Amino acid sequence: MYVLGISCFFHDAAAALVKDGVLVAAAEEERFTRKKHDYEFPMRAIEYVLAAEGVTAADLDHVAFFEKPFVKFERILMTSLQMFPRASRLFREAMVTWLLDKLWVSALIEERLGVPRAKILFSEHHLSHAASAFFCSPFDEAAILTVDGVGEWATATTGRGRGTEIQLDREIRFPHSIGLLYSTFTAFLGFEVNEGEYKVMGMAPYGSPRYVEDVRKLVRMAPDGSFRLNMEYFDFHRSTRLPYSRRFLSLFGEPRGMDESFFTERSGYPSYFGPRPADYTERTRRNQHYADLAASIQAVTEELVLNMARAAQRETGLRRLCLAGGVGLNSVANWKILRETGFEELYVHPAAGDSGGAVGAALYAYHTLLGKPRSFVMEHAFWGEAHDEAAVRAFLDGENIRYERLDDDRLLDRTVEALVAGQVVGWSQERFEWGPRALGHRSILADPRRADMKDIVNTKIKFREPYRPFAPSVLAPRVHDYFDAPGVERQYPARFMLLVTPVRESQYDVIPAVTHVDGTGRLQVVVREGNARYYDLIERFGQATGVPVVLNTSFNLRGEPIVNTPREAFATFQKSGLDALVLGNYFVRKDG
Ligand SMILES: [Fe+2]
Repeated sequence: MYVLGISCFFHDAAAALVKDGVLVAAAEEERFTRKKHDYEFPMRAIEYVLAAEGVTAADLDHVAFFEKPFVKFERILMTSLQMFPRASRLFREAMVTWLLDKLWVSALIEERLGVPRAKILFSEHHLSHAASAFFCSPFDEAAILTVDGVGEWATATTGRGRGTEIQLDREIRFPHSIGLLYSTFTAFLGFEVNEGEYKVMGMAPYGSPRYVEDVRKLVRMAPDGSFRLNMEYFDFHRSTRLPYSRRFLSLFGEPRGMDESFFTERSGYPSYFGPRPADYTERTRRNQHYADLAASIQAVTEELVLNMARAAQRETGLRRLCLAGGVGLNSVANWKILRETGFEELYVHPAAGDSGGAVGAALYAYHTLLGKPRSFVMEHAFWGEAHDEAAVRAFLDGENIRYERLDDDRLLDRTVEALVAGQVVGWSQERFEWGPRALGHRSILADPRRADMKDIVNTKIKFREPYRPFAPSVLAPRVHDYFDAPGVERQYPARFMLLVTPVRESQYDVIPAVTHVDGTGRLQVVVREGNARYYDLIERFGQATGVPVVLNTSFNLRGEPIVNTPREAFATFQKSGLDALVLGNYFVRKDG
């Protein structure tokens, strides 16, 4: 039985194909259309997941959509009416978009895929999140926590999963939302909402949380895990422009300029920013204020999430937790959940945000709506498109690109030589990753032992702010040599780069390029199963250097989606300062 899951029209659109309860393919639309965070109907991703299995839409038994469009429409309608007339603009915009695109999902799916309406099933937004974590986890029974901006009405839910059933007992409703609270600060700090949340998280360790008391004025927490925002500080429920109100500004001052460069005394002024500005000291002082705010909102967010997780633990009495929703990507909070809430095991779906709803909806339909048994655990995140040897070769030959084809052993040696020589390598292998993290199939790799490597990678390719840390990929058996993170190798989110843990102090100088300013690292624990070539590469790097860790960042230029095809990988290689490119077994050098 084939079930196609679709998520779209809000954040990241995606499609997933499940065969007899087992995921066979999943991908985000942006990887095909090359439009970052593309949220349109994911036709290209659908075509891919069907092609990956060699079927057509006619072979589908069901199509599952990740939320209930009418319920969501009702929420937008109701909140708009309540706020009328202040919200009239929002109301008009919402009406037009929803009536044109979103409300008629069934009709659209029928029209685009030729699948009759009788085969189309609907999940609910937070049920899709919950299912994406629980039905992909190895747990037979677990507590469930979903936290995001907003779905239909819910912004956070807690409950439990057992076998093929998911029961969400409690929910918090719009406009009270941890995701929207965090996003309000994301916007205030000069970043794009739904994109800059990582930047806020990376900025936080440069600040001290001295505004925590002020941030707490915005939200009231209850002992039962719930919370309420004080809406006087917000405008996201009645404005499509700014999420914060005048009262918010009187508390926190002027917002930071959009994408203004960030540096503090601690970060220093990176060379790739160009010459030091004349008002360097003044801007350092201002940035420090914003870093302190980032630290404060991060701290309060952690309090809120931990408060909910503790309540879920108390209520269910269970030791395992499944977490999903955009806030599940807050890898700093995730590690604290494991340390401080009584849960011993955590599963976070690699695409914890809305794209993951495609997998969640398909599995929810299969198990809960259709009552079929479970037989799947998501052990890895490699569900995207692959390009075989013939395709790589045809591309390289077609473009007259000089390359060497190396056998597996030689390929690893050559790549390690390049890394040890201080080169930055584009590495593209097999199927691309599901979710926002590159995990060794579409990665840029470098030597983590060199303190200057952060600046080198930024200068050559990423051009990103100095506060955004690069991640370490470390072999599972060696993780404790470098990280002070008991039991981390048993936790699935560590495979998906969704935990930030302390680096051992003795190792700060050993892997400085992947140690964040506060002595932490967003590590990827690499297991060989499902990721053999990457594992072998790191192992070989360890044999050559004594350090089985590489610096791993996603294979893309700033502002672009992660590469998919050999052509995109090569274009990125050419446009950037990457020194070498590895496509399968093909090795391409810049000077070649
Ligand atoms: Fe969501």
